Amino acid sequence: MQDSLNGKTAIVTGSSSGIGMGIAEAYAEAGANVVTNSRSQERAESTAEDIRAAGGTALAVEGDMSDRKDAQALVDAAVDEFGGVDVMVNNAGVSNISPALEMTEEEWREVIDVNLTGVFFGAQAAGQQMVEQDGTGQIINISSIFGSIGVQGRGPYNASKGGVNNLTRALAVELAEHDIQVNALAPGFIRTELDAQTRKSGDDDETLDEDDWPYYGYDDQHIHNRNPMGRFGTLEEMANCALFLAAGDHYMTGEIMHADGGWLAFGWGSKSR
Ligand SMILES: NC(=O)c1ccc[n+]([C@@H]2O[C@H](COP(=O)([O-])OP(=O)(O)OC[C@H]3O[C@@H](n4cnc5c(N)ncnc54)[C@H](OP(=O)(O)O)[C@@H]3O)[C@@H](O)[C@H]2O)c1
Repeated sequence: MQDSLNGKTAIVTGSSSGIGMGIAEAYAEAGANVVTNSRSQERAESTAEDIRAAGGTALAVEGDMSDRKDAQALVDAAVDEFGGVDVMVNNAGVSNISPALEMTEEEWREVIDVNLTGVFFGAQAAGQQMVEQDGTGQIINISSIFGSIGVQGRGPYNASKGGVNNLTRALAVELAEHDIQVNALAPGFIRTELDAQTRKSGDDDETLDEDDWPYYGYDDQHIHNRNPMGRFGTLEEMANCALFLAAGDHYMTGEIMHADGGWLAFGWGSKSR
């Protein structure tokens, strides 16, 4: 997909690591001016520097996506530097693990504020700019297979991603008249910092024990046994999906693209006993 984003400007929120970093680098390789983002200027700058070192164009902007002012400032910075916004990837996300009956208000709000409200703030600020430009635009919200299933201890994460799925549909319907397409990419299990948090044990020794399940801990064997494709997905595979969505020549809007190795399609608990 070389040159598929030539001359376009793309913002990728939460692009200091993991899936967002992979998408930002792939967009730059495809010719886009990329705006990277993180809660830390230094971490956003690190991805931007890698992009420039590879011959691409990037601007790093610090900002907390759960703060509306920061979301607006991110879009404004893209406009100041590159003249507009063509692609907005709302990727920034957090997770925690807490049994529902013991969960604090803070634990609930932390995840909802970033993963759901932050996606809305990003989509709203970028959408307003796209309308002002009088051009087409692509908004891509990063959801998860956890938006379609329930997992113990992940109530706010499950709720936030389910919310992202239906927010995506609502925005797609509303913004279609402006030629703005809104889709979600819903990954399965991908090795990143976020995934590492839930892959380890909840104990101090971090060794996986029987009683860590079901709140903590899954390993390669679990993914192998449960996932039809038998493995984690890669950052490159997620970036390829995001490239396809960003190019915009697909007649898709309001779609939730699951990139999960068949996890949601599979009906049994395990491929083997
Ligand atoms: N890994 C998976 O298996 C998986 C599966 C399905 C969906 N996802 C989704 O994919 C997205 C990326 O996650 P990841 O796995 O790549 O994890 P990650 O490596 O931990 O990346 C999360 C990114 O979000 C940023 N971030 C967190 N809170 C932020 C905030 N309030 N404002 C701005 N940036 C913020 C982090 O940057 P700083 O810490 O530098 O601020 C980081 O760049 C998330 O939406 C996640 O829910 C991941």
